[in-house]
Amino acid sequence: MSLREVTSELDGNLNRLAEKLRSNLRISILTGAGISAASGIPTFRGQEGLWKKYRPEDLATLDAFDTNPVLVWKWYAWRRERIVTSQPNRGHHVLATWSERINSFCLITQNVDGLHERAGTHGVIRFHGSIWELQCRNKCPESPDSWWDDTVPFRSIPPTCPYCHGLARPGVTWFGESIDHEILRQSLSATDCDIFFAIGTSAIVNPAANLIRQAKQNGAFTIEINVDATPASDLVDLAFHGPAATILEQIEQRLTRCP
Ligand code: OAD
Repeated sequence: MSLREVTSELDGNLNRLAEKLRSNLRISILTGAGISAASGIPTFRGQEGLWKKYRPEDLATLDAFDTNPVLVWKWYAWRRERIVTSQPNRGHHVLATWSERINSFCLITQNVDGLHERAGTHGVIRFHGSIWELQCRNKCPESPDSWWDDTVPFRSIPPTCPYCHGLARPGVTWFGESIDHEILRQSLSATDCDIFFAIGTSAIVNPAANLIRQAKQNGAFTIEINVDATPASDLVDLAFHGPAATILEQIEQRLTRCP
């Protein structure tokens, strides 16, 4: 295929998609680390991914935390510092605009960075929790399930539970832990939609990746936006291979262009 043919196919697909999005359809979106890459937040997999430098079993499991809470908290504190100095990018902003404009809109994110919320997206489902929430490690009866704490940097590491003064842990879901029952229920319910986007996710971590398959089974028109091919690429109806911020901006331009 020549470059002209590729460009014209991309243009045709973008126009087709914008036309669909103009109709009053139910839109659900699953995002992953790739949406925040343009904000300077490292992804987990790929050449520059965090899991190239660190082992998930040393930093993202309850066992790892219990073995070395200071090490795990230092890693989360470093990530919090990185996130707090980053800004939502054009991709986050386009999705925030859609959350206002589209009547039936649902965004599920695997990201714990809070950038969708900072861009103004309403009703974000935080599939893997939030790096800005803490929980009591021992689930002491006085503490709520989680509480907001955006102190950067922490006064001391590891931070403690303000209720029992025992260890606090990050309010995120680690490998080997179950997704909160209500979050899972809401996310599965969101797969009952007309259009389902998977944006910037490697689509290999379940149960999040399974939402794409579920949406397809429910009859949704499925779309992937990713710089690379993923296991979802062959499953979806339309795959855009490029940076999320750029592709979302191109869709948005078509949506807002006068017919
Ligand atoms: P990954 O790091 O696994 O995948 C990020 C995806 O984004 C890859 O497929 C990249 O090709 C793509 N990508 C990178 N830059 C992009 C860009 N500018 N535009 C579009 N796509 C881009 O991140 P997730 O799929 O979110 O879980 O990972 C899922 C879960 O695995 C995370 O929530 C985390 C991780 O381990 C836990 O920590 C429990």
